[in-house]
Amino acid sequence: MKNIVVSGGTDGMGRALARHYVNSGWRVLIIGRNPDKGAEFLAEAKQSGAADRAIFLQADLSLVSEQYRAVKEIAKVFPVVDAVVLGAQHFRRERTVTAEGFESTFALYYLSRYVLSNGLLPQLELADNPVVLNICGPGVSVGEIHWNDLQLEHGYKGLKAMMQGSRANDLLGVGMAKAHKGSKVRHVLYNPVFVATSFSGEYKKPVRLLVDLAKRLGATSVEKGIEPIIELLDDPPAKAISAYKKRKEISLSHKSFSETDAARLREVTKAILTPHSTT
Ligand SMILES: NC(=O)c1ccc[n+]([C@@H]2O[C@H](COP(=O)([O-])OP(=O)(O)OC[C@H]3O[C@@H](n4cnc5c(N)ncnc54)[C@H](OP(=O)(O)O)[C@@H]3O)[C@@H](O)[C@H]2O)c1
Repeated sequence: MKNIVVSGGTDGMGRALARHYVNSGWRVLIIGRNPDKGAEFLAEAKQSGAADRAIFLQADLSLVSEQYRAVKEIAKVFPVVDAVVLGAQHFRRERTVTAEGFESTFALYYLSRYVLSNGLLPQLELADNPVVLNICGPGVSVGEIHWNDLQLEHGYKGLKAMMQGSRANDLLGVGMAKAHKGSKVRHVLYNPVFVATSFSGEYKKPVRLLVDLAKRLGATSVEKGIEPIIELLDDPPAKAISAYKKRKEISLSHKSFSETDAARLREVTKAILTPHSTT
């Protein structure tokens, strides 16, 4: 029986993937903040006779302490991890800072994915065909790493923070593959383009209305949106690192996937996390 971890598994694509894998006979651990959504997932699994294969881990992944706690909790229940899906995200229109002092989008969208994908490596290495699939935004040419202001203390904008997070996740995948040469864990950066999910976040009312309208008019349904993800999880690409926009593979020759920048961000991130890693 295979084990899968889904961050952001309480809603959107993560929730649909969790449902799919419970129904496929896997053990599924989801991470999210909302206890009601977690309870719904557990109740649904119970109803389909899979109570013993469904786990909800409530955690606020914008806190580094919670990210490390999640890694510990997961390792206790899953000695082997076959797949990790990284999907937790929350759009913040205004700059907010976590109790640990990090800009929230940087902490949730990037740091939590760094900590989960690095922290679960020992469990992933024990699987036959392990994969980490990061649902982010590869192939989008906007956004940059603000090396001198990673926490966006100056000129914060919600979209700017999200786009920096997307570029940081591109580099996270490249950096993982490079730092762990010879590892059997495959890293997949996945851009779903536009899927009608909950779009977790704080949007201005007109923007929320526009998003809802666009969802009705042009978005892929969640059920359709997860189909390419399932294909990648069930049969991971042979390459240590690859990137996809829906089913189309994206070349890694773009500067978003620079190995030099990936190594630099990895070092910067290690330094940021060091004071937190034992807490
Ligand atoms: N939907 C799209 O069109 C689209 C396009 C491009 C990229 N993406 C990316 O795809 C990924 C999945 O997005 P989605 O649209 O499927 O998700 P979604 O419906 O917006 O749901 C977001 C998920 O993240 C969780 N989350 C938010 N803040 C959290 C926190 N502080 N700690 C732990 N969990 C937290 C939510 O949990 P709770 O509700 O329990 O808080 C929920 O499960 C995201 O990274 C998103 O940026 C989506």
